[in-house]
Amino acid sequence: MNNFEFYNPVRVVFGKGTIGQVRKLIDAEKKVMMVYGGGSIKKNGVYEQVARALKGRDLVEFGGIEPNPLYETCLQAVERIRTEDIGFLLAVGGGSVLDATKFIAAAACYEGGEPWEILTTGGRRVKAALPLGDVLTLPATGSEMNCFSVISRRSTQEKLAFGSPLVYPVFSILDPETTYSLPKKQLRNGLVDAFAHVMEQYATYSVSSPLQDRQAEAVVRTLIDAAGDVLGRQDYDSRASFMWAATCALNGVLSCGVVQDWTTHGIGHELTAFFGVAHAESLAIVMPALWQHQFEQKKGKLAQLARRVWHVIQGDEDSQARAAIEKTVEYFHSVEMPTRLSDYDITEADIQKVVERFGQRGDVLGEHKNIKAPQVEEILKLCL
Ligand code: NZQ
Ligand code: ZN
Repeated sequence: MNNFEFYNPVRVVFGKGTIGQVRKLIDAEKKVMMVYGGGSIKKNGVYEQVARALKGRDLVEFGGIEPNPLYETCLQAVERIRTEDIGFLLAVGGGSVLDATKFIAAAACYEGGEPWEILTTGGRRVKAALPLGDVLTLPATGSEMNCFSVISRRSTQEKLAFGSPLVYPVFSILDPETTYSLPKKQLRNGLVDAFAHVMEQYATYSVSSPLQDRQAEAVVRTLIDAAGDVLGRQDYDSRASFMWAATCALNGVLSCGVVQDWTTHGIGHELTAFFGVAHAESLAIVMPALWQHQFEQKKGKLAQLARRVWHVIQGDEDSQARAAIEKTVEYFHSVEMPTRLSDYDITEADIQKVVERFGQRGDVLGEHKNIKAPQVEEILKLCL
């Protein structure tokens, strides 16, 4: 096992009817800015629950955060924070709203140059941030219990991430009943995104981390088991399992002391930035192809995944590892998630944009640092 440091200060308040607790979780002296998205919270009663809980408090609103939140929109919120004396940010929505709020919290206190630098430097320059909390309405990203944020910039078609311990939410309220209003497509996206998060921390090579491996396998198995009911009906228990599993998929526990490979996310973000493919959709395209491309390096862990998660007992390591790729694609298809670029009419000519960007940035990906622009091209060709 590799050395590691684990720190996670997020207070998770989980369960039915917990949104009202937002009142006692926010300092009554602070003026609050509530940040939300395109209006789903006004249709499903979540907005009303938050407004009722915060009745009488000094509260302003900032709505209109887009899926794949835009830098340009976040800057408008920062402008308002500068003119009003905001002391706390409350995100109410999915991962995009949470990520935008984290970025706004950091940008409002940024004393460097242009706040975009927060993203180009991966968060290293964040020295202060406003405190924030959230009411999550979409299980998927894990943003509710991590310190990462992913922001897109319309003008340059870029999508970059940053991380800083200063943007951990102070609290996250997770009420599984908020997910009842989610369209099937968003549920499917959440199931796939959370699955991919676990795999980016698992499908590399073994460094003797038996507990973390079992924890990762438990999270993906829970997602697979819950998927049918999550997509099929409004059932509290399966929504609760899904919500907590998605949080645990990316809250720092699974990555303790293991080797990670975030190549699928790295390439996926570019597919979103250039072609507008939703985040989880991009992952379902790239992940099976990455595993095929890096088969020799990853086959030990993939075979273990097949044995332990899908109970594949026959065959040698190679055939079990191949079974893991097949079972993963089957899982994606079972939740009606496409897995090819052609499903989105993205052609071989189109992928050159992505390859060129990796070339320009000089990014080096993969747990063995063996994936550069030419390998990105090979992987994307496997996705066509
Ligand atoms: O904007 P509103 O009207 O709220 O509608 C949203 C949005 O259209 C809707 N929605 C959310 N909760 C709902 C609901 N509709 C009905 N009922 C509800 N309860 O769902 C749509 C998608 O929401 P979004 O927040 O964009 O989805 P998600 O949570 O999947 O977040 C995706 C973003 O998170 C980033 C992605 O790159 C993407 O930008 N990620 C963040 C990570 C992190 N912070 O750690 C890690 C991830 O890998 C990911 O990169
Ligand atoms: Zn993701």
